[in-house]
Amino acid sequence: MIVAETWSMYDNFNRSWRSLLWPESSFIEDLVAACELKSGTRMLDVGCGTGSLLKRAAYDEPGALLYGVEPTPDALNLARRRLGGSGERVRLLEGCGQSLPFENNSFDVIALTMVLDELGLATRHQVLAETRRVLATGGHVLVADWSAAWPAWLALAAAPARVLAQAAGIGPDPPDDRGPGYELESAGFSQPRLVQRFVALSGDVELWKAGKG
Ligand SMILES: C[S@@+](CC[C@H](N)C(=O)[O-])C[C@H]1O[C@@H](n2cnc3c(N)ncnc32)[C@H](O)[C@@H]1O
Repeated sequence: MIVAETWSMYDNFNRSWRSLLWPESSFIEDLVAACELKSGTRMLDVGCGTGSLLKRAAYDEPGALLYGVEPTPDALNLARRRLGGSGERVRLLEGCGQSLPFENNSFDVIALTMVLDELGLATRHQVLAETRRVLATGGHVLVADWSAAWPAWLALAAAPARVLAQAAGIGPDPPDDRGPGYELESAGFSQPRLVQRFVALSGDVELWKAGKG
């Protein structure tokens, strides 16, 4: 119950207060544009959360075949409610990125937005390997995550907490300092490139794209 309420608050936050710090709607619009959806494109959103990206994708390209996978049941329930009107075109499944419930080569586009950042290095590698497995040859993956470079004001404010967390051995693994391009290449993707940087008060988000050759 508490968890469901937290997800509901997260969802409301995304759609209201967060927009003051962070231009959510243009972010989602640009992400969907980068997916280059056409009628019949098979798209998977890994860690789809409450379904914002899929909703916009369904609106922009009604002919696309959209799938979302999300490990948290409460987030998935909100996504189901939000996408209820999109019927058979959007399928939502409970699952995690390390073990995707799909055959090899099932998708033309796979999005991982603000997901890898939440995972430790080993899990990130598993998720990328699994993503590559279900991506079709000639398809592409889109990875959006916070930039490793924090805005100066935030780095300064968070410095004491980071030092304490590091000393106590807690907190997420730092991103691989060779960057997402290196991580994507190590997972076997081709031509990883930074395609867009979203600048916001709360820090930049980078959008990376790579293929499966
Ligand atoms: C910050 S939210 C982002 C949600 C959504 N992609 C978006 O951009 O709004 C991170 C999401 O990743 C999901 N997640 C966490 N671990 C995951 C995993 N191992 N595989 C797939 N998704 C995961 C969380 O449940 C959560 O919904």
